[in-house]
Amino acid sequence: MIETMKELLKKLSLPIIQGGMGVGISGSGLASAVANEGGIGVIAAAMVGIDEPDIISNSIEANIRALKREIRRAREATKGILGVNIMVALTNFSDLVNAAIEEKIDVIISGAGLPLDLPKYLKEGCKTKLIPIVSSGRAARALCKRWLQNFNYLPDAFVVEGPKAGGHLGFNAEDLNKPEFSLEKLVVDVFESVSEFCQKGKSMIPVIPAGGIYTGSDIRKFLNLGASAVQMATRFVTTSECDADVEFKRTYIDAKEKDIVIIKSPVGMPGRAINNQFLEEVKEGKKQPF
Ligand SMILES: Cc1cc2nc3c(=O)[nH]c(=O)nc-3n(C[C@H](O)[C@H](O)[C@H](O)COP(=O)(O)O)c2cc1C
Repeated sequence: MIETMKELLKKLSLPIIQGGMGVGISGSGLASAVANEGGIGVIAAAMVGIDEPDIISNSIEANIRALKREIRRAREATKGILGVNIMVALTNFSDLVNAAIEEKIDVIISGAGLPLDLPKYLKEGCKTKLIPIVSSGRAARALCKRWLQNFNYLPDAFVVEGPKAGGHLGFNAEDLNKPEFSLEKLVVDVFESVSEFCQKGKSMIPVIPAGGIYTGSDIRKFLNLGASAVQMATRFVTTSECDADVEFKRTYIDAKEKDIVIIKSPVGMPGRAINNQFLEEVKEGKKQPF
């Protein structure tokens, strides 16, 4: 297993982290394919057990079992670097983190809330790297302070997710298009906010932008700003290696710009989604989240 974050980043031949996509979109298939190409492949923990027979009656155990299985499957398929994405908002967050650490996962990426206590799960000798997802310099600074104070530990890197990301968004809906919240600005804000925590002689905490990064020139733009890598998710959905159903992939291929909508997700955050009949029915109050 890799010792330091610096070594881990050096080992990458592609400066790309594949963003975790829940409910079975990024499982062992996509994660191992990305890792084999020299990026970091990420298995999403959110409802990873969607196909388990007891997912309704015994969801906590079903998801833990499925997460461990997906990590093992991915390990069998690659010698590359693997991560898991575990959202703070998940009810069984602790169990999933413990399961991933038990499986000696290289990286845990955690957002949808601030993972204030994540370092407490690291046991003696554990090499798993911890990467919180933030959407502001303020959040990054608060997390550094808290981790340093309580665990004498600084984040191994930050994913900085901007307003153009797919899925849940850490912004008010009305701020999404404001220039002051552009990903470029947020990256600089995070660099500045965490610089005070990088002691003399030690390198900066690596910053990894995410959200709307799609092409090689997008990646280059952020590397030029000082990013160590980028996180990309939507770009991988329509690959044959992606674990999603072919109909899900087809929806992405067929989507036009006008179909991309901002919804209020059941967890109370805005989210970027592709409009469909289900969302229309939710909007009209005909369907309720459960
Ligand atoms: C279908 C889908 C599912 C996602 N699921 C998760 C998730 O479970 N946890 C999470 O932290 N982020 C999730 N994300 C966000 C991605 O990991 C990533 O940070 C974001 O989509 C980056 O923006 P991009 O899609 O424009 O590349 C999801 C994104 C998509 C498109």
